[in-house]
Amino acid sequence: MASTETDVPTEPSTRSGSYTVAVALVAAVGGLMFGYDIGVIADAQDGIKGAFELSTFQIEVVVASVLAGSFTGAIIAGKLCDRIGRRWTNVWGGALFGLGCLGCGLSADFTMITACRVIMGLGVGFSSVAGPLYIAEISAPWSRGAMVSLYQLAITLGIFIAFLIGLFLGTELWRVHFCIGSLMGVGLVFGMLAMPPSPRWLVGRGRTETALGVLKRTTGSTEAAQSELEAIKVRVREESGERLFDALLASPAVRRALILAIGLALLQQFSGINAIMFYGPSILEEIGLGDKKLLLTAAIGLVNVLATFIAIWLVDRLGRRVLLLCGTSLMMLSQIGIGLSALWIPSTQTATTGSHSMAGIIALVLIFVAIIAFAFSLGPLVWLVISEIFPAGVRSACVGIATSANWVGAFLVALFSLTVLENKTMGTTAVFWLFAGSNVVAILFILMRLPETKGVKLERIEEFFTRPSDARSER
Ligand code: BGC
Repeated sequence: MASTETDVPTEPSTRSGSYTVAVALVAAVGGLMFGYDIGVIADAQDGIKGAFELSTFQIEVVVASVLAGSFTGAIIAGKLCDRIGRRWTNVWGGALFGLGCLGCGLSADFTMITACRVIMGLGVGFSSVAGPLYIAEISAPWSRGAMVSLYQLAITLGIFIAFLIGLFLGTELWRVHFCIGSLMGVGLVFGMLAMPPSPRWLVGRGRTETALGVLKRTTGSTEAAQSELEAIKVRVREESGERLFDALLASPAVRRALILAIGLALLQQFSGINAIMFYGPSILEEIGLGDKKLLLTAAIGLVNVLATFIAIWLVDRLGRRVLLLCGTSLMMLSQIGIGLSALWIPSTQTATTGSHSMAGIIALVLIFVAIIAFAFSLGPLVWLVISEIFPAGVRSACVGIATSANWVGAFLVALFSLTVLENKTMGTTAVFWLFAGSNVVAILFILMRLPETKGVKLERIEEFFTRPSDARSER
């Protein structure tokens, strides 16, 4: 790239700004579904197990089936976003999630609940691709970071809401817990039907007049909309008819961007966040705080929501690299500390004794630090970077691939962390040190591969990958 010009045009009008925020908030309902899905199963497990008399393995299948659905959904959504558009893919995501939740709530046996969890997962998979993509394409360059971070805020809120509802309903009313989730699906369906299609997708379909109409509303001025439309048209013309496979073979830029996206998607999961999200109560027991585990898990959920605001506030000011590097380093340091503290916790403390050791309290504080660090960095920014670095012609297919890699990572962490945690000798320490090691890899990966895309128009981001040496020399 020839300059670090940040493409920040004239100040956006307040009205167009609030219109874009409203559109982004509606698409972010998909994030609520994503989070609710994580939170609901943690609480409902016991009730489901009792109702259908399931073995531990069957419960694992019920838990993991949603991840299989999300993985498949993300792959399908990559294609669907091009065929029927980002908006309609979100609508389908909401419908599938709503149906799946309702089905889980009404299920009669193990097979039915597993099938319905796969359907829920498909819905989450659809929206995890189409949601951030739609928000990125509808946002202006100067606020894209904050807008896409709203999606992560919704994920964290979804986890927290599911947890609060679970606290209120208890495990016996798990059917109601699932049925409440279907309201979010309905909200996404009706909300998205009232939203405009992505202008980038419209141009790709030759519907430039409609695209201009949308751009006028999002930019707030006819001139800005016209110039934005011209930039999109040029890119779309250059890329028309491009197929993913051909693009990968022909363009080193697309290859570099895809490696970056898949790497970040996996490293987000290998950061260890979901060991805390999925198995928080077990970890709290291990560090001798089992007597307060429900309250502390709720507090973890709340801190996760609140710390996401740091990203919303700073991402378009400080940029992606600084936040990611600070957050990942802080997470890595706190994980080393948690592992060390766990070594000092007296073994008699790891039951629910009621008295807490200093090492246990230190580990708890560090768990909060790790959550905060994730919430302002890897949490929101990975979704943001994935949705903004690809050229329009292959964007949705590549976002689909990277997002499905994220689901594979989530699946592996779900399987492997519990096994290591259950090792009585050094379980907690080993888990956190392994994740700290992965975060060292993440820091190096970000340092070497991530260009700063703050304030740059989507149409120009590809240039950072075309000539990475130029991009690096500008940092
Ligand atoms: C991750 C989820 C995680 C959540 C926690 C998201 O960005 O993709 O796997 O559970 O953050 O807030």
